[in-house]
Amino acid sequence: MKVLTVNHVTQRFGGLTALSDINLEIREHEIVGVIGPNGAGKSTLFNVITGMYAPTEGDVYLGETCISGWKPYEITAAGLGRTFQNIRLFPRMTALENVILGMHCRRQTTLPQIIFSTRRKKEEEERCRKEALRLLSIVGLEGKELAMPSSLPYGEQRRLEIARALATQPRLLLLDEPAAGMNENETAQLLEIVKSLKSIGCAIVLIEHDMKFVMNVCERLYVLNHGEQIADGTPEEIRNNPLVIEAYLGSEE
Ligand SMILES: Nc1ncnc2c1ncn2[C@@H]1O[C@H](COP(=O)(O)OP(=O)(O)OP(=O)(O)O)[C@@H](O)[C@H]1O
Ligand SMILES: [Mg+2]
Repeated sequence: MKVLTVNHVTQRFGGLTALSDINLEIREHEIVGVIGPNGAGKSTLFNVITGMYAPTEGDVYLGETCISGWKPYEITAAGLGRTFQNIRLFPRMTALENVILGMHCRRQTTLPQIIFSTRRKKEEEERCRKEALRLLSIVGLEGKELAMPSSLPYGEQRRLEIARALATQPRLLLLDEPAAGMNENETAQLLEIVKSLKSIGCAIVLIEHDMKFVMNVCERLYVLNHGEQIADGTPEEIRNNPLVIEAYLGSEE
C-alpha cells in the first residue's frame, strides 16, 4: 500500500525552479531518505507535501487522496506529521504540554461537550496526558515531562519535536534534518528511535546531511540536485551512483 505519491511535482518561485518534475512513492512502514547538496530543494519538497505551498505543477497524494491545494492543518489531520529544519517548540510550555498540543487535531471533545460536561472533559484530558507520556517515552524522554524545552539538551529538544509530531497520529512522518547539530552520542540515540518508529506503524521520510545516519536507517533514498531528481535506489546503489558522487563533489567547490 502506498502512503504517499508525489506525481510530477514542479515548484517555481518567480524565475527560480526549486523543484522540477519530482516523483516519489512511499509505501507503508518504509523509512526513506531524501538527500542532496544545500539548496537542492529538499525542504521545498517537504513544504509542498505538507501544504505550505501548492505545487506549481503536479499532484501530491496521501494514500489514494489527492491533497494538492489542501491547507497544512487539513493535511495534518489526514495523517501527515512533520518536524522542521529549525526547532519549533512552544518555549513557555512544558515538554508534556508541547506534546498534548500536538494532539489537538485529534481531540474528540466537541465545543458543547466542553461547555456542558466537565467530567467528559476531565476524562479526555487524562487520556491525552497518558498518550503524551507514552509518546515521550517512545522518544526516550520519560521523566522529562515537566521540563521546559530550553532546559533540555539540543538532542532532547529534537526528540521532543518528534514526539509532538507523533501526537498527530501520522501515517507518514516527515523529518527535516533530525540529526542536524547533534553530537555522535545524540545521533546514535536518534538512530535507534527512528528505527523503533517503524514498529508503531508509520512510514518515515527524512532529509539528512549525515550520510552515516542516512545509510544506516533508510531502506531507500531519493537524491535531489538543483531541483532535479537525479537518482533513487537502495543506500548501496546510491553510494555507487556516479551522478550522485559528482553532485556532492561539485557542491564542495
Ligand atoms: N519561499 C521561497 N521563495 C523563494 N525561493 C525559495 C523559497 N523557498 C526555497 N527557495 C529556494 O529554493 C531552493 C531550494 O531551497 P530548499 O530550502 O528547498 O533547499 P534544501 O535542499 O532544503 O537546502 P538545505 O540543505 O540547505 O536545507 C533554494 O534556491 C532556495 O533559495
Ligand atoms: Mg533544507
